[in-house]
Amino acid sequence: MLLRAPSPPLSVANSLPENLTPLFSSSSSILKLSPPRNGGGSLVVAASKGANTRPLTGVVFEPFEEVKKELSLIPSAPQVSLARQKYTDACEAAINEQINVEYNVSYVYHSMYAYFDRDNVALKGLARFFKESSEEERDHAEKLMEYQNKRGGRVTLECLIKPLCEYDNEEKGDALYAMELALSLEKLTNEKLLHLHKVAEENHDVQMTEFIESEFLGEQVEAIKKISEYVAQLRRVGKGHGVWHFDQMLLQEEA
Ligand SMILES: [Fe+2]
Ligand SMILES: [Fe+2]
Repeated sequence: MLLRAPSPPLSVANSLPENLTPLFSSSSSILKLSPPRNGGGSLVVAASKGANTRPLTGVVFEPFEEVKKELSLIPSAPQVSLARQKYTDACEAAINEQINVEYNVSYVYHSMYAYFDRDNVALKGLARFFKESSEEERDHAEKLMEYQNKRGGRVTLECLIKPLCEYDNEEKGDALYAMELALSLEKLTNEKLLHLHKVAEENHDVQMTEFIESEFLGEQVEAIKKISEYVAQLRRVGKGHGVWHFDQMLLQEEA
């Protein structure tokens, strides 16, 4: 939308020196800077024809009818968002659901960190990997919170589910069991993100679909690939000595 000041809005002076030429020839209100024709002197700010009898008082703002309509829609209640525009309740609720998903996954990874950091488990690479993964998921939750606020929605936090505390498994051992659980959580998160994207699409929220695509979807596929590789490697090494080597590899990889 182009806002034009009424004509004539501006005037620099009642008269100009003869060697200075104002650059205007119509009733347009576009400002132009004109160097003097004969060189030397300073730049001249000029405005529309016939303006030279009015003092410089600034551009007068006259909203179009559409702007008047928008003005009337700006809420006056202090508890209502001023920024909110074309952001549906369904999108707002879906963002809050995804915040809860990310927080729950973060909570599980934090529990895995605590398990692998135990003195009688002592797999430091895995402990660090799950600690960083937990922080990453919390960052995802926070990114969604920022977006919720940016769009004028209200962040609503839900309850977290109590995660497992023990990850040892007779058949798979602890490392493989935890990593397979992590893989299933990442795939579940991916499904939830795709659902979130679908809600945005159904509500014709192009800004939200772009946000999910650029900030989450690509990264999620990367995470699934990485953890799949860890699962494959842990399946090769078995439950004993090989896990220690895998853990050392993680320590070096993340260093
Ligand atoms: Fe995530
Ligand atoms: Fe993740």
